[in-house]
Amino acid sequence: MHHPVDTAELDAGLERAAGLLRAAERLAVLTGAGVSAESGLATFRGAGGLWEGQRVEDVATPRAFRRDPALVWRFYHARRAALASVRPNPGHLALAELERRLGPEHFTLITQNVDGLHRAAGSEHVLELHGNLRRVRCTGCGHVEERPDEDLPDLPHCDDCRGMLRPDIVWFHEVLPEDVWEAAALATAQCDCFLVVGTSAVVYPAAGLIDAARAVGAAVIEINLEATPATLPGTVALRGKSGEILPRLLELVEQPPSPG
Ligand code: OAD
Repeated sequence: MHHPVDTAELDAGLERAAGLLRAAERLAVLTGAGVSAESGLATFRGAGGLWEGQRVEDVATPRAFRRDPALVWRFYHARRAALASVRPNPGHLALAELERRLGPEHFTLITQNVDGLHRAAGSEHVLELHGNLRRVRCTGCGHVEERPDEDLPDLPHCDDCRGMLRPDIVWFHEVLPEDVWEAAALATAQCDCFLVVGTSAVVYPAAGLIDAARAVGAAVIEINLEATPATLPGTVALRGKSGEILPRLLELVEQPPSPG
């Protein structure tokens, strides 16, 4: 249950955020696992998160894959299987609607998520910083292929060169895809409003985009259940579930500002 003061605080924050979004010439949005939580996908950190009881070094680094590809694939087979039944939630849908309203030149959606739910919700201009779980990449010839909705063999191999396939995602100690990163950095440098949704803001370089947005004077709005390192003074912090807050925010953006 909400405390009345919290409700009033959230209402005021929503009004401020809606005002900033209405006035924004260019909006950049950075999302993390929290935006997909209400679709039923686990986040990484915290209780019940994917990294709880699972060392990142064992499943999400190139070294782990060289050492034990079967273990790494087991982890990602399970995550691919989880995708089969998930659907975008109202938070994803609200962001897609915001893109339609603002137009592609004024809106960039940058995500750390590998679940593809933003596109499934209808977002078009999506920059996937950490790749996509529905794709595989050959470690031999580099060929990238869409392989959604299918059970891959335990240790899948390339049809062309017989090299071992890996998920086409970014692991720790790997660089982000250069073109995607550059587009994200540019959208951030050009934005006047930066919306951060459902990320713990601790994984770099992605979290560095928030600092970069501040450095160019953009207003920062954060939607999260709790405070994060991104919650610096001046941040419009909206506390709650993104699947509830984003639709409310969209509704306010679509309304004329309330008098007073
Ligand atoms: P985290 O699991 O680190 O953080 C999820 C954030 O979402 C937390 O701050 C939660 O408070 C918040 N949250 C949870 N449910 C929410 C909800 N319903 N509404 C709003 N916020 C909610 O996930 P990321 O920040 O995405 O990288 O993690 C960043 C990267 O670290 C991931 O892309 C992944 C991971 O290791 C790689 O695998 C390379």
